[in-house]
Amino acid sequence: MAKTKTVYICASCGAKYARWQGQCRECGEWNTISEQKITEAPNAGAAVAQRALSGFAGAAGSGVSSLSQVKIQGTQRIPSTYQEFDRVLGGGIVPGSVVLIGGNPGAGKSTLLLQTVCRISEHVKVLYVTGEESLEQVAMRAHRLGLPTNNVQVAAETSIDNICTLTTGVAPQVLVVDSIQVMHVSGVESAPGSVSQVRESAAALTQFAKKTNIAVFMVGHVTKDGTLAGPKILEHCVDCSVILESGNDPRFRTLRCHKNRFGAVNEIGVFAMTDSGLKEVRNPSAIFLNRQEKLAPGSLAMVVWEGTRPLLVELQALVDYSQYGNPRRLSLGTDPNRLAMLLSVLHRHAGCQLADQDVFVNVVGGVKVEETASDVPLALALLSSFKGIAIDRTTIAFGEIGLTGEIRPVPSGQERIAEAYKQGFKRFIVPYDNAPRKISPDMEIHAVRRVDELIELVH
Ligand code: TYD
Ligand code: MG
Repeated sequence: MAKTKTVYICASCGAKYARWQGQCRECGEWNTISEQKITEAPNAGAAVAQRALSGFAGAAGSGVSSLSQVKIQGTQRIPSTYQEFDRVLGGGIVPGSVVLIGGNPGAGKSTLLLQTVCRISEHVKVLYVTGEESLEQVAMRAHRLGLPTNNVQVAAETSIDNICTLTTGVAPQVLVVDSIQVMHVSGVESAPGSVSQVRESAAALTQFAKKTNIAVFMVGHVTKDGTLAGPKILEHCVDCSVILESGNDPRFRTLRCHKNRFGAVNEIGVFAMTDSGLKEVRNPSAIFLNRQEKLAPGSLAMVVWEGTRPLLVELQALVDYSQYGNPRRLSLGTDPNRLAMLLSVLHRHAGCQLADQDVFVNVVGGVKVEETASDVPLALALLSSFKGIAIDRTTIAFGEIGLTGEIRPVPSGQERIAEAYKQGFKRFIVPYDNAPRKISPDMEIHAVRRVDELIELVH
């Protein structure tokens, strides 16, 4: 008979301990360790998958073979019918892949997946398993959104064993499990939602997907601090981890890829939540650049590179005399360390003294900029706010600033300029090495080499 034993597991990283302790030694988190009862069956999750798989060929270990002789089958991606979703996934749904969709409650995970499976059901076999909502709720939503439902198979189920059995009967190409936190797997005694249940359920589903070549979408909830509930192991075992999040504007949702075994990460897809469901936004620059008519000092548009495409966003800076001895430096959406570095470079190489000023920086629309191309726009926005001179609204900038005050080129300069020109920008402040050879007559290009040249451009 299986023996039950007690272990203490960290909810953040999944580390196991024999005794309770306040802080996890592996990840350093406090109060994440909780008691779990586990049954000593070796790898219960895998056992479940094996059981469910008995009807499928090739379930056993594959042995050793030459990489060139491994047969590649089913690499034809299934289009999700949403360009934004496809791009985030790296070009469509890969058969046999496991995709984790994370997000806050109410982000629209269930809506996005329901819309997707209904729309692809016309030419692909799908199964939508709901563990949180009743079948009526799902049907009502699909009906209200006017989605095609004739070919969509649904089931309300929370047992992974049953889901594997059901799936074997239906043989879908795409399976949705909403959500992994309410699933349980036989052989693991702890409550659904606990670390071991979530982990074993995900492991069983992943094995199942790999052996049967079914694309699986798992919904995962996000905790208050924005991390995926359940251990990080969940992110390790899936092929793709995608987060659906809402920024400052509650109407819009961005789909962001954190891990992708089949494509580039840092891709974003933008959707608008409307009263008739999620609608994709093909031209996100237009929404992030929704600027006021009369521009105040400290605001500037910049081009950032998100995954495989340029995105236009507005950057705002506020420089104000500090009333206290210790001036504040705050940046939202950009790296605070780069801000500190830029302030020093501006002082040393452009003679711009901001040491007694409070400095605040914000990227509008909740966009997070991780690349260095935001250095030049940031410096310009700081200068604009400091001098109290608004920058012309047709101006756009990008470029990296080095510690010796030089302005360095960034990748994809031509594409950034082309995108900004398409959106109506005429005045470009760009690194010298990114300046285009051929320009249209209505373009005004300022190719800059050093940071002190920026000062004259804010006038
Ligand atoms: P839902 O997909 O249930 O969120 P999740 O599964 O991520 O928890 O989305 C629910 C939210 O979306 C809810 O706050 C209402 C909103 N919504 C709309 O605004 N319009 C719609 O047509 C739908 C279906 C939902
Ligand atoms: Mg939901």
